[in-house]
Amino acid sequence: MDTLKIKLYRSRHGGRWDNEYLRKKGMKIGKNVQIYADKIDLPYAPLIEIGDDVIVSTASLMAHDASTKLISDYVKIAKLKIGSRVFIGHSAEIMPGVTIGDDVIIGAGAVVTRDIPSNSVAVGAPAKVISTFEEWKEKNLNQMDASPKSEKRYNELSQEELLALVEKGIGFIR
Ligand SMILES: CC(C)(COP(=O)(O)OP(=O)(O)OC[C@H]1O[C@@H](n2cnc3c(N)ncnc32)[C@H](O)[C@@H]1OP(=O)(O)O)[C@@H](O)C(=O)NCCC(=O)NCCS
Repeated sequence: MDTLKIKLYRSRHGGRWDNEYLRKKGMKIGKNVQIYADKIDLPYAPLIEIGDDVIVSTASLMAHDASTKLISDYVKIAKLKIGSRVFIGHSAEIMPGVTIGDDVIIGAGAVVTRDIPSNSVAVGAPAKVISTFEEWKEKNLNQMDASPKSEKRYNELSQEELLALVEKGIGFIR
């Protein structure tokens, strides 16, 4: 698949990558994985592994570090492993050599330089764990119970419906 075809696929799928294309490049990708990453280290795709039920939003997945070119003729490379049931927020940077466990949320803008244990929510630069996944889940499910919800998706809602949902703060849509 050439660059134009990749761009066309992504534009037709809301920015989502074609997992089959990434698998052909050598990435290991489990079931029910949605990848919208702005940057994937494609030449090093065989070093990247993702489990099941994962959403990678507009983040960066990196498996190489060319800073070592300043002091040698070598580029540093390392594996990047993401477990199952993981969400990676917008603009997060996942660095080479990192392993992210299962049931993990990585917050928007996080710079993940060290391993993140299973069952955790991590934010910041460098990313630090701020809560367990279970605590985050309970808090957000309670919030969902107490907030207005719509069964429509973002592109099915009128401007008025969208605004009505957040009139008192948080709303939830499909
Ligand atoms: C990490 C995240 C899931 C936490 O959600 P939450 O549990 O509702 O978090 P809260 O807003 O209650 O914040 C909890 C604490 O973490 C901090 N925090 C939350 N997200 C943060 C982030 N991305 N970076 C740094 N700190 C963050 C808050 O400031 C708050 O700190 P405080 O307790 O000192 O006030 C969420 O903030 C996030 O980053 N989601 C990703 C959004 C995104 O990428 N959207 C676009 C693509 S879908």
